[in-house]
Amino acid sequence: MHSDIAEILISEEQLKAKIAALGEQITSDYRGKNLLLLGTLKGAVPFIADLARAINLPLEIDYMAVASYGDSTHSSGVVRIIKDLEGPIDQKHVLIIEDIIDSGLTLNYLVDMLKRRNPLSLCICALLNKERERLKTIETDYEGFRIPDKFVVGYGLDYAQRYRNLPYIGILKPSVYEGQTRPESQHQSPAEK
Ligand code: IMP
Ligand code: MG
Repeated sequence: MHSDIAEILISEEQLKAKIAALGEQITSDYRGKNLLLLGTLKGAVPFIADLARAINLPLEIDYMAVASYGDSTHSSGVVRIIKDLEGPIDQKHVLIIEDIIDSGLTLNYLVDMLKRRNPLSLCICALLNKERERLKTIETDYEGFRIPDKFVVGYGLDYAQRYRNLPYIGILKPSVYEGQTRPESQHQSPAEK
């Protein structure tokens, strides 16, 4: 285990097993449909790479990069698109692949924006869902794990752009960010998303 990690929350084996199950479910739900996996950069990259290989269907993959406006600690829920999709989605069944739902504001905005592009369907697959109070509820169609409201890193998730390459999801030792920006707030900066 990495010396900056206090506790492994979800092991590599648990991730593998869950992703295999999600892949099977998605395979049976989207059979015969024109499926587009829409990954959000950068956090969802390891997840979408493993999930895509667990789905036994022809599919397309594209990415969006978004950043939420706001001050350092509060997301405003208004999102700026840094990288958009390559083409229209009106002939596609779109499945958004997210690493984690925290406040849910970014995803809410993304969903509203994508709906206006008239996809054949629009669903959400989130690897992690934090158990916390939200201004708006977010309905996920596929979910990996419910986790406590703690700051986690690994398997795509970062603190100050680090730890994305850890093969598991872990809780960061507070000593790593003591005296620094709180990790809950660092991800609101556009460059950090
Ligand atoms: P929100 O749901 O609009 O608050 O923003 C979700 C984004 O915040 C995610 O896509 C992550 O980039 C980041 N984020 C939220 N919680 C964590 C965490 O525990 N670790 C790392 N990044 C996080
Ligand atoms: Mg981040």
